[in-house]
Amino acid sequence: MKLVVIGCGYVGLVTGGCLAAARHEVVATDNDASKIATLQAGRIPIYEPHLDEVVAAARRAGRLRFTTDAGDAIRSGDVIFICVGTPPRATGEADLSAIDNVARLIAAEARSPKLVVEKSTVPAQTGQNLKRALNVYGHSSGLHFDVASNPEFLREGTAVGDFFHPDRIVVGVEGVEADRQLREVYEPIVEGRFECVLHPNGCPQSAKPEFLVTTIPSAELIKHASNSFLALKISYANVISDLCERLGGNVEEVTRAMGLDPRIGPQFLKAGLGFGGFCLPKDIQAFIHLAEQVGVDFSLLKEAERINRQRIERLMEKVRNHLWVVKDKQIALLGLAFKPFTDDIRLAPALEVIRRLQAEGAKLRATDPQAIERARAIFPDVIYNADPYEIARGADALLVLTEWPQFKQLDWSRIHREMARPLVLDTRNMLDPLTMKLQGFEYDSFGRPEANASVTAESSR
Ligand code: UGA
Repeated sequence: MKLVVIGCGYVGLVTGGCLAAARHEVVATDNDASKIATLQAGRIPIYEPHLDEVVAAARRAGRLRFTTDAGDAIRSGDVIFICVGTPPRATGEADLSAIDNVARLIAAEARSPKLVVEKSTVPAQTGQNLKRALNVYGHSSGLHFDVASNPEFLREGTAVGDFFHPDRIVVGVEGVEADRQLREVYEPIVEGRFECVLHPNGCPQSAKPEFLVTTIPSAELIKHASNSFLALKISYANVISDLCERLGGNVEEVTRAMGLDPRIGPQFLKAGLGFGGFCLPKDIQAFIHLAEQVGVDFSLLKEAERINRQRIERLMEKVRNHLWVVKDKQIALLGLAFKPFTDDIRLAPALEVIRRLQAEGAKLRATDPQAIERARAIFPDVIYNADPYEIARGADALLVLTEWPQFKQLDWSRIHREMARPLVLDTRNMLDPLTMKLQGFEYDSFGRPEANASVTAESSR
């Protein structure tokens, strides 16, 4: 099947690359000519594990090409995936101008009927507006445009695996033809007939993903409802973590036991610095805005968002408690990306931590396996070094802000020797409190009071 991807961000690239691995012919376009030039030169503009392999294999097989000629791309395919950005406006509402521009472009360039699929995260009712826009902009051509919603549930850092091995594929359609076309698009994924870069010797046996066909508004709502629920879970765990600190519990014991109940589930109950990135924070805001627009009280989500913002203040309280005066203290930051395995720092909690520490006069040095260059562009006055031991040298405190596995594997006794004061504030609960204490660190994390750490260790002996 011939497919078109408009927008070569991480969703567009993963969608295009993986669908080409599923033996479809894909043409991808973007209005950023430099991004297309980078892709044509065989480089990937973002860090996403395995994406380079998927894209390179698809291009070698002649099934994926990149072009700046959007008109040519649009004319070449039957199904067009819109993967452009929908960033938040100041009000929290999603900015849909890129979708509108793409609708105008498709209407102007198409010469045959198309199925236009929303893959960008959009508020409910966008499908309806998109369909109207396509027909208004394309009224002189007399062509018919079908619209569908196909929300993505990819997580940055594991996006390729998530695309190849999804739990569910959701398609919101209006008619049988769109249903048929999207079944054909996803059939190789559902049936496990694709070239999986993650499992070159064959994918492990697992249940087939559920292929869910819904109305377009339901599909749009599923996306926002899912991301907002994940955000709620995280904020809930963070409040439990605060309670643990006050009452002497250990948040990891509490959330582990909660998660063993299949009605709750273990994921997204990790307490710490809160959620960041360009999806959860922006989607929760857009969902709140949408609910307000239609007169539905969603204060529940507003509270989850407020709790999330408060996490930074909770960390700052810890910093002040331990350091007393923050001004002129040398603080080392381990991690800048909003989560491990990505170079994405958009709405990363680390950025707000940097702003707050700088406002209090701290001297900052930072490291991250992938995100240093992106952070340098925003905070040129922070000292960066790829070597964590260098940033620890002479530091009065070290803050763990992203739980990259390589940070866990550092020689912490060497970090101890490098630091002026061996104080570690682990905002991601990455390290073991008792081990850190035994190594001579002053150690603090979220929801794991030190006393509890020793009790846990005693009781597990
Ligand atoms: C999220 C969703 O998980 C995806 O399903 C969705 O497709 C994607 O948004 C999107 O809308 O495009 P992502 O933003 O890549 O994916 O990252 P998550 O793994 O959801 O993590 C988001 C934030 O929550 C990170 O800052 C992470 O550190 C934090 N988090 C996550 C916690 O603080 N605790 C947890 O238990 C889990």
